[in-house]
Amino acid sequence: MSPLADGLSVNGPRLAHDLETLGRIGRGPGGGINRTSFSPADTEARAWLLARCAEAALSVTVDGIGNLIVSPAYTATVAAHPAVWSGSHIDTVPNGGAFDGALGVLAALECVRRIQEEGPELLRPVRLVVYTDEEGNYAHLFGSSALARGFSRAELEALTGRDGDRFADTFATVGGDITAATTTRLDAGYLHATVELHIEQGPTLEERGHQIGVVTGIVALGGGVVSFLGRADHAGTTPMTRRKNALTAAGALLVALPELAAGVSEHAVVTSGIVAVEPGSANVVPAIARVTVDFRETQADRVTALETAIVDESQAIAARYGLDVEFAFELTIAPTLLDVGIQATIAEAAAARGLSFSSLPSGAGHDSQNMARLAPTGMIFVPSIGGRSHCPEESTDWPDIENGANVLLDTLLRLARAV
Ligand code: GLV
Ligand code: MN
Ligand code: MN
Repeated sequence: MSPLADGLSVNGPRLAHDLETLGRIGRGPGGGINRTSFSPADTEARAWLLARCAEAALSVTVDGIGNLIVSPAYTATVAAHPAVWSGSHIDTVPNGGAFDGALGVLAALECVRRIQEEGPELLRPVRLVVYTDEEGNYAHLFGSSALARGFSRAELEALTGRDGDRFADTFATVGGDITAATTTRLDAGYLHATVELHIEQGPTLEERGHQIGVVTGIVALGGGVVSFLGRADHAGTTPMTRRKNALTAAGALLVALPELAAGVSEHAVVTSGIVAVEPGSANVVPAIARVTVDFRETQADRVTALETAIVDESQAIAARYGLDVEFAFELTIAPTLLDVGIQATIAEAAAARGLSFSSLPSGAGHDSQNMARLAPTGMIFVPSIGGRSHCPEESTDWPDIENGANVLLDTLLRLARAV
């Protein structure tokens, strides 16, 4: 059955207005958006979203970690079935863009509003989900990890944010209950399917001249902190030959990273976006330099190879400068293959609307990689102008956004009707 027989489409001007309005919350003078999870701007964005849900008479539940689940009104028979969830996140990286996450949330909001307005016949409910802290200020893909694997109290108590704040303290300031945050895990079978619309965040669709991306899978990801341990000394009196400068070693590691990635594969990427220096004074030789690394490849064994290469190189650098080095790596996140049936449904929906489309993997992490462990999961990409993302310039042409939202709506309706 083709959902297009309904003639159902999203309300484009309303979606455009929502994107524009949400994009003003947390926007800095340079145009970048700062909506770190649980920050005042994130809280304001959540309140704004809840107001839109109330306006549309949608019901909202909030789980223990702050994931929002938003539902139109359904008959008891429909509501009793495992649901189709669609959504993304409204938190951002520091100085981020207006589309990463926000597009997937607002397009899914638009879809559930259209379902609420038109009441199409469905076998199972479609609901919007807004995942907490996708950008991983406290834990990578925090909200969906809480759904897929859950967190113990001890794990939650140990989490700290980018600014050094304890998650438990920040969570309490927004009214969070840490005991409830340990009770979020969902059972496999609880959901029928999940679908996320997202900007590509890379250049592939634009280069191909395609309007829709059918995402085949999400790369494997590793990360952690390499700490070089040297010695604090006076910056004016300590001869250069007698120093144990931890930051010099960190610099050598940063310079080596591109070669380490190339040594593993042509698709491997390694990034360091944070270097923390102690004691952090202009007139003190750095005693400690902590280099945060993020590394990705499509195959899990190559992510392991990247970790080994980083360890070996760091040890060689530490030995060269007479320093100690410590490692704290997080567990590698396995690559995720997305559901082939949902990929076909997305492709059919795109074709039915006369849109050009092709398949591609995602180099960015997404909550969908956790959700794929709970239910068949699919992702739809729309092109990113210039492939730019995680920066204020992040943008997508309006027709691409509206097309993506309509393909999402068609996909959700098909999934909610399939017997
Ligand atoms: C999320 O944006 C990630 O890929 O790190
Ligand atoms: Mn992101
Ligand atoms: Mn995202």
